[in-house]
Amino acid sequence: MRIDIITVLPELLKSPFEASILKRAIEAGLVEVHFHNLRDYATGGYKSVDDTQFGGGAGMVMSIAPIDKCISKLQQERNYDEIIYMTPDGEQLNQSIANQTSLKENIIILCGHYKGVDQRVRDRFITREISIGDYVLSGGELGAAVLCDAVIRLIPGVLGNETSALTDSFQDNLLAPPIYTKPREYDGMKVPEVLFSGNFGKIEKWREEQAYKRTNERRPDLLED
Ligand code: ADE
Repeated sequence: MRIDIITVLPELLKSPFEASILKRAIEAGLVEVHFHNLRDYATGGYKSVDDTQFGGGAGMVMSIAPIDKCISKLQQERNYDEIIYMTPDGEQLNQSIANQTSLKENIIILCGHYKGVDQRVRDRFITREISIGDYVLSGGELGAAVLCDAVIRLIPGVLGNETSALTDSFQDNLLAPPIYTKPREYDGMKVPEVLFSGNFGKIEKWREEQAYKRTNERRPDLLED
């Protein structure tokens, strides 16, 4: 998979890709991530990527020309399956969107800034608009990092034990059950006996019951789906 990220703040985005699972995925050649500084596609002395809003109103709007140049250059080099715009008014990111995106070959992620982008960018180029939650961030970069993390860990081979992504919370619309490690008892708090039974059928059944219980208590909306 190849991910091209268009941003005015590449330095804000790089560190999540320089550690742990994402770093290893890149080093193993399972994913390529390329950052494109939108300013490199701007013209004029100030390399300006934004301008004031037609009709008046506070806040700057990202202009179409540099974005067009950057996306068009990338599209000349390869076909893209999805051009995603990170925006608080997009559809809310969930595991299903992460799963779908992880199956794509080439994607572009455009990070918004200021008030957002000129509507014509969305009309012409964007195939999917994603929000990471009902709150407004200063820009789309952190959202793009969240999306990339959720997607990249699903690419086959990225996680050491491939089944571990399948047992994540949300993968089957259930939250994950409680988990424990050593010691067996800590300050009077004991690990549930069933986990020492050696009976894997019984342990699986317990985990499933706990997953339902937790989902029912915390996120009953997931069970309605
Ligand atoms: N840009 C600003 N706020 C955002 C959000 N909640 N999700 C994605 N991109 C954003």
